[in-house]
Amino acid sequence: MAAQGGRNSAGRTGATEPAAAPAPGLQGRRILFGVTGSIAAFKAAGWVRCLANEEARVTVVMTRAAEQFISRLTFGALSGNRVHGDMFASDPEGIMAHITLSREADCVLIAPATAQTIARLAHGLADDLLSAAVLAADIPVVLCPAMNTNMLHHPATRDNLDRLREIGYTVIAPASGSLACGEVGAGRMPEWDLVRETLLALFADQDLAGRRILITAGPTREPLDPVRYLSNRSSGRMGYALARTARRRGAGVTLVAGPVNLPDPPGVRVVRVTTAVEMRDTVRTLAEGMDIIVGAAAVADFRPRTCQERKIKKRGAVTSIELERNPDIMAELGRNRRPGLLLVGFAAESHDHEQEGRRKLEEKNLDLVVVNDILGSRTGFDVETNQVTLLTARDRRRLPLLSKEATADRIWDRVVELATP
Ligand code: C5P
Repeated sequence: MAAQGGRNSAGRTGATEPAAAPAPGLQGRRILFGVTGSIAAFKAAGWVRCLANEEARVTVVMTRAAEQFISRLTFGALSGNRVHGDMFASDPEGIMAHITLSREADCVLIAPATAQTIARLAHGLADDLLSAAVLAADIPVVLCPAMNTNMLHHPATRDNLDRLREIGYTVIAPASGSLACGEVGAGRMPEWDLVRETLLALFADQDLAGRRILITAGPTREPLDPVRYLSNRSSGRMGYALARTARRRGAGVTLVAGPVNLPDPPGVRVVRVTTAVEMRDTVRTLAEGMDIIVGAAAVADFRPRTCQERKIKKRGAVTSIELERNPDIMAELGRNRRPGLLLVGFAAESHDHEQEGRRKLEEKNLDLVVVNDILGSRTGFDVETNQVTLLTARDRRRLPLLSKEATADRIWDRVVELATP
């Protein structure tokens, strides 16, 4: 993760650079982790480990059925905490566990959640420690149902899940695929990335709720022939971090991404493009419905005038490539701007940073320009950290060296200020 990247690389980059602040994550969050009796319980072990690695504080409660699949010892070792399961434990810590467990947690995550536990919770039963603790809980509850497809689609389970959603619990839709019972269908545990984002959203201010945001990210590729292209070193990380953090804060996010090697952020609509012209056409089509557009892509400024249909031969006589200008997507949006649309651009500079940033702010008619130094060892391409200055017509704010996600959050803070009359 970014925070570790920051710490690990501190020694290499010398004492003059400040340490990166940690990524906004689940560190210190207290998670009451319920594990119920499904074969998918083994996946929960991996998730507890992910949470512990992130320094979240995890307390596991297992149902009796869960203990048929996996031992308490596993969860105790992975979480570093006592594992609970007995409703009638007589030791001082166990006696009131059904009340104290949720009092000492920030949220409940039940994964896997079986049809049985879902039914218990939907009917307010409290006949085991987990269901009693959830009934006593005044904190957000997240469920990851995992079961055979027919059990999931049974009207009883559907009604129970509807009831739990009505109560205000978050139900993460199970993934589809091959199930342990041999059938294929919905019922698998979701990806951890989706669950993590769901937890992070619970803890985030929903100050972008209802906003429709389009973000461009990554490089573009401008083909020369069927195998060669012109491109740049952009990894897409900054744009993807903006998409994740905006989604966490409640926005509806569309990411128009050039060729990058990053997983799609959960809950974000991702439209893949290759060339600058494709990116421009896609953005133009989608811009209509947006409140905020952020140009984080490193769009190639030029493209080869022609793309050869056949591979150019090494023995051929090509000694130069004729280029033509690509459209400037943000400048076009700035020229034909609809009232109320907020435009944020980036200025990746190697020198005269702020002067260049201010020129782009004015020439492209933007509301905010994020300036960064592409030559800095921890602020350039393909690194986990960034240090930027936020320029508006009125002021400038220099941010410290931060992970790209933390930088993204600070950019959204400024956007929220600008968007609030
Ligand atoms: O002029 P320059 O390329 O440095 O401007 C950077 C800003 O403009 C970024 O926000 C980038 O996404 C956007 N841009 C664009 N279309 C281009 C070139 C840059 O939208 N052809």
